[in-house]
Amino acid sequence: MIFFVKTNIVAQNKNYEVQIETLLAKMTLEEKIGQMNLYNGFWEVTGPPPAEGSAKIKYEHLEKGWVGSMLGVRGVEQVRKIQELAVKKSRLGIPLLFGFDVIHGYKTISPIPLAEAASWDLEAIEKSARVAATEASAVGLNWTFAPMVDISRDARWGRVMEGAGEDPYLGAKVGVARVKGFQGDDLSAPNTIAACAKHFAAYGFAEAGKEYNTVDIGASTLYNVVLPPFKAAVDNNVRTVMNAFNILNGVPATGNSLLQRDILKGNWKFNGFVVSDWDSAGEMVAHGFARDRSHAAELAANAGSDMDMESSAFIGHLKALVESGKVKMDVIDDAVRRILRVKFELGLFDDPFKYCDPKREKELLYHPDHQAAVLDMAKKSIVLLKNDNQLLPLNKKQQKIALIGPLAADKNSPLGSWRLASDDNTAVSVLEGLQQYTDQVKYAKGAELVVGPAQFIYETKINETDTDGFEEAIKLAKASEVVIMVLGEHGFQSGEGRSRTKLDLPGVQQALLEAVYKVNPRIVLVLMNGRPLALPWADEHIPAIVEAWQLGSQSGNAIAQVLFGDYNPSGKLPMTFPRSVGQVPIYYNHFSTGRPNPVPLVFWAHYIDESNQPLYPFGYGLSYTQFAYSNLEFIQTDAAGKQPIRVVVTVKNTGKVAGEEVVQLYIHDKVASIARPVKELKGFQKISLQPGESKMVEFKLTEAELGFYNNDGVFVVEPGEFDIMVGTNSQSVLAKNLVIK
Ligand code: NOJ
Repeated sequence: MIFFVKTNIVAQNKNYEVQIETLLAKMTLEEKIGQMNLYNGFWEVTGPPPAEGSAKIKYEHLEKGWVGSMLGVRGVEQVRKIQELAVKKSRLGIPLLFGFDVIHGYKTISPIPLAEAASWDLEAIEKSARVAATEASAVGLNWTFAPMVDISRDARWGRVMEGAGEDPYLGAKVGVARVKGFQGDDLSAPNTIAACAKHFAAYGFAEAGKEYNTVDIGASTLYNVVLPPFKAAVDNNVRTVMNAFNILNGVPATGNSLLQRDILKGNWKFNGFVVSDWDSAGEMVAHGFARDRSHAAELAANAGSDMDMESSAFIGHLKALVESGKVKMDVIDDAVRRILRVKFELGLFDDPFKYCDPKREKELLYHPDHQAAVLDMAKKSIVLLKNDNQLLPLNKKQQKIALIGPLAADKNSPLGSWRLASDDNTAVSVLEGLQQYTDQVKYAKGAELVVGPAQFIYETKINETDTDGFEEAIKLAKASEVVIMVLGEHGFQSGEGRSRTKLDLPGVQQALLEAVYKVNPRIVLVLMNGRPLALPWADEHIPAIVEAWQLGSQSGNAIAQVLFGDYNPSGKLPMTFPRSVGQVPIYYNHFSTGRPNPVPLVFWAHYIDESNQPLYPFGYGLSYTQFAYSNLEFIQTDAAGKQPIRVVVTVKNTGKVAGEEVVQLYIHDKVASIARPVKELKGFQKISLQPGESKMVEFKLTEAELGFYNNDGVFVVEPGEFDIMVGTNSQSVLAKNLVIK
C-alpha cells in the first residue's frame, strides 16, 4: 500500500486560472448560481429534512446544471449515476463534488478525533486521516467535511468529541495533520480528497455548552483561541472551509463578513471556497438577522458564503438578487471561481469518474492495512488516568478476571458518533479483545446503558431504573481476582445535537460501580466516552482508571494490549477533566484573577463548595514507567537576548519498562498590554525512552510562540519577562524565567 507517505511539504496547487476564466465566460447566471448550490442526496439526512427541494426537483436541477455539489451520495454506482447527470445531461457538463461527513473513518473507523488528539502523535493522526481518505475516495467521494478545528472548553457540548480539545496550539497541529492526511501532496491523485476546516467560527463557544447556542466572545478569545487552528489549516492549503450555525457577537457566522471576507479571504488570502453549514443560510431568519430566505441569501452571499448547503436559498433567490443589484455579479463570479478551482485541482475536469473505480471500492474498504493503522492510532489515544499500586498492567496468566459493564461486549458504541457509513457492530469489543489473551475472562453485563435503538438522528434513551443485572455482576466480581468494568457514554451520547447538563456516568452505571466495589475493590475502570467526564468518586476509590474514549473499529484489541502491557500507554488529555459540572468551562490556559491565591477571608477567586482544581489537568496521562525531568536551560542564539531561543531539558525514564512521553512546553508572558493566560502550550515532542535512558529534548522559541494577537487582530511580540515551563502535563512543570529584550 502506498498511502502511508508522510507529507512534509504543503502541496503546491497547479494554476488553473486560465481554464477557470474560459469556463466562467461561457456560464449563464443560473449555471453560476447552480455551482453555488449543494444538495443532500436522496436517502440520508444529517440535519432536519428541508422544506424545499424534493428528489424530483433535485434531479431536474442536476440535469440543468443547477447543482454544484452533492452531499450524502456515496458508493461508486450511485456517484457514477449522479455524476453522469451532471456531465452528460447538463449544458456545460461541469462535474459535481461529492461531499460526506468522513469524520473519523469511512468503513474502517478510527478513534473519535478528541481521542486521536490525546495521542499527540501527529504522524499517526495524519495516517488515520489518510486511511479515511483512501476509503472515501474508493466509494466515489472527493470531499470530506473534516477536520472540525473548533476549540472548546465546555465538556457539556456534545461536539467536543469531533475536535482536538481546548488548546489552540495543539488544535492547530492536529488540524493540519488531518488536512495533510486527507489531501496528501497531490489533490488530483485518485486517493486524496478535499478537506474542510469547520465551523468558521467559534461554534465551540456555544453558551452553556448547548448545541447551536449563541456565542458572545471578546476579540482576545477570537483571535488567540478560536482562529489560530483555522489559520493554520489555511496556511497548509485546506481547500474548503465550512461556516457555522451560531451567532457570533450578534452576527450569524454565515452572514459574517468580518470572518469570511475580511479575515479568511482578505488577511489570510484563502483561495478555496466557503460552504455554509446545513441550512445555516436559511437559519438566519430564525436568528432574527434575515427577514426571509431571499434576504438570507443576500446576506450570506455578500458576506462571503460561496456555497449553500441544503437551504435552497441561493438557488431560489440569488438570480433575482443579482438582477435587482442587491448582490453584485462580482460576488457570484468570485464564488464560482473558487468552486471551479477546487474541482480543477481535484482533477474532475480531466476525469469526472476518477473516484468511481469498482475495483478500488471492492479492495479497499475495511482493508487489513487500514485496520492496522487504526489499531495503532487507538492504542496511542488511550490515556492512563490512575494506576495505584501498579494494578496495571495485568498479568497475562492472571486467573479469574471478571468483565462487567454495559459497554464491555458492545460492538457498536465504540464506533462513536460520526460513523454513518460503517456497518453496525463492526468494532472489536473489549470482551473479544481480552479473549485474545486469556480464556479465563468471565462476562456479566450488569445493566443496560441504553433502552431501545441508538441511532444517529434520534435521541438516545438511557436506562435509569433497571438494575436486574446487578446481582449476577456482583456474584461474578466476588468470585474473581480482578474486575474490569467498562462504563461510560454510548457512542450516540456525544456528537451533534447531544449536549449534556451532567458529566457523570449515565443511567445506573455509578450505582453498578459502587455495588461491585463493595464486594471487590480491585477494579480496573475502562471509560468509554466522547467528552471529559466528572468522576470524583471513581478517582477517590477505584485503583486503576483507563480513558478509552470511543476508539473505533479496533477498540477491544487496543484496550486489551494496554491492559496486558503489550502497549505502554502514552496518551495525554487534550481537555481538562472537571471535578464537577459547576466548574465548567474549566481550562488550563485561563487568565489570572486579581485575587488568585487563598486568604483566610472569603475574598479570593474560589468556590465555597468545590476546589479550583480539575480532576485531571490538560496534558495529563500516566505510563507504566516514570519520567524524571531535569536541567531546564536556555541557549540564547543571540547574546542580546533576542529570539530564537533554544530551550533544552533532560528527560529520563526512571522506571522498569520502555515508554513514550509527551514532553510539553508552556509559556507565561508575565506582563503584557493585554493580559496573557497563566500558561500557554507552545511546543511538544513525543519521545520514547528505554528503562534508564535519558534524552535531551530541545524546543525553539521564536516570535511565533512568544507573541499574541492584540484586540485589533494584529500579531505583536512584546519584550519583557516570561516564565518558560517544561513538563509532563500542564501542572507538573519545571520553570525558568526568561527576559526578552
Ligand atoms: C451539520 C454539521 O454541523 C456539519 O459539521 C456537517 O458537516 C453537516 N451537518 C453535514 O452533515
